[in-house]
Amino acid sequence: MNGTQHPGPSGPATDTFDFAALRRLPDIEAANLFAHDATDELILAAAAERLAGLAAGPGGASLTVVGDHYGALALGAAAMHGLTGVRVHQDALSGELALANNAQRLGLAGRCTSMPLSDTLFAGASLVLWQLPRSLDELDETAALIRAHATPGVTIIAGGRLKHMTLAMNDVLARHFHEVSPGRAWRKSRPLEVRGPREGAPASAFPHSEFNETLGLWLCAHGATFGGTKLDHGTRFLLDFEPRMRTAGSAIDLGCGNGSIAAVLAKARPALQVWATDQSAAAVASAGATAEANGLGTRITAVRDDALASFPPASAELVVLNPPFHVGAAVHAGIALKLFDAAARVLAPGGELWTVYNRHLDYRAQLNKRVGDTDVMGRNSKFTVTRSVAAGRRE
Ligand SMILES: C[S@@+](CC[C@H](N)C(=O)[O-])C[C@H]1O[C@@H](n2cnc3c(N)ncnc32)[C@H](O)[C@@H]1O
Repeated sequence: MNGTQHPGPSGPATDTFDFAALRRLPDIEAANLFAHDATDELILAAAAERLAGLAAGPGGASLTVVGDHYGALALGAAAMHGLTGVRVHQDALSGELALANNAQRLGLAGRCTSMPLSDTLFAGASLVLWQLPRSLDELDETAALIRAHATPGVTIIAGGRLKHMTLAMNDVLARHFHEVSPGRAWRKSRPLEVRGPREGAPASAFPHSEFNETLGLWLCAHGATFGGTKLDHGTRFLLDFEPRMRTAGSAIDLGCGNGSIAAVLAKARPALQVWATDQSAAAVASAGATAEANGLGTRITAVRDDALASFPPASAELVVLNPPFHVGAAVHAGIALKLFDAAARVLAPGGELWTVYNRHLDYRAQLNKRVGDTDVMGRNSKFTVTRSVAAGRRE
């Protein structure tokens, strides 16, 4: 439904919004990757009457949008209902940047404000639109904040893909709200209407902390952090090679998640300064919490950044990376390649990129081409660990 009236499974048609005009940039773009999905359209249709009830313009201040992928929800609501001052939280910086780009391109700049996941995101909100996360912890952390800080009469219109929705999600929401009502599914997505904040429900306990015996370190995680407080299996294998990584004054934990790599490097090398960087707001907060929990707060700096964009070229001696192979729900190699390119740009000649990946992926040729001479340093039944030595300068 592009540039046509907005469909509702049963709801009213609303003004038009051209979903197809949305772009994913600076996130990976490809033929099988989209900037909006049926869930966006379904949530907007299910919320249409409530959105229409907000006063045009400043009424947008009562609306909060969470989990928007590339701006379809926030910009769609703002455009279709003439709203300004819409608060938005997106965990991924690339999504936040895409929303800003899309707002600019579609003449909607200034209508939405991106904010951290916090009490001010929800303070006084009467309507929340929410692309549901798959992680129950992320669901829990966000639901607790909405319950505690939105108006008591708040309505949440949430939605997700049927294949990702579970009854456990309803249970988590029901811990915080009295009413969790599923709506009719449409194009493999389902809306949920959630109301009635429960008084006396437990406050948010995030970040969670867990002592990891293997590392001898505390690992901390906010809800949306990859792997939570656990040590990833690939990372565990990669860290076996820490003694063989080059001597350096500083190092970068690229895609830091809970900060386990940064903490191991800082603990093993007392003079090392470590940058822990991720595009996930939750990951950056978690890596900072992990650093503090282990007394490494002055040695580790956590930075939210998309693929090292704020790091100067040829400035780093050591980058350590366990790359993702998912883009959202889609399996796509592009994100790992984007991070290899980022490491190649930021490494000084002779600098090292250490990375781990599933055996079947065989990224070695790409690493040779994009970063520099690459050796396989180890293999086990599941993973390959490589070291790439940065060649001469590239852009
Ligand atoms: C496989 S996880 C590894 C996390 C952590 N290093 C660990 O070992 O548990 C990959 C991480 O890359 C991050 N990531 C994905 N795209 C990114 C990007 N464009 N820039 C920075 N980080 C990114 C994800 O948010 C995720 O935390």
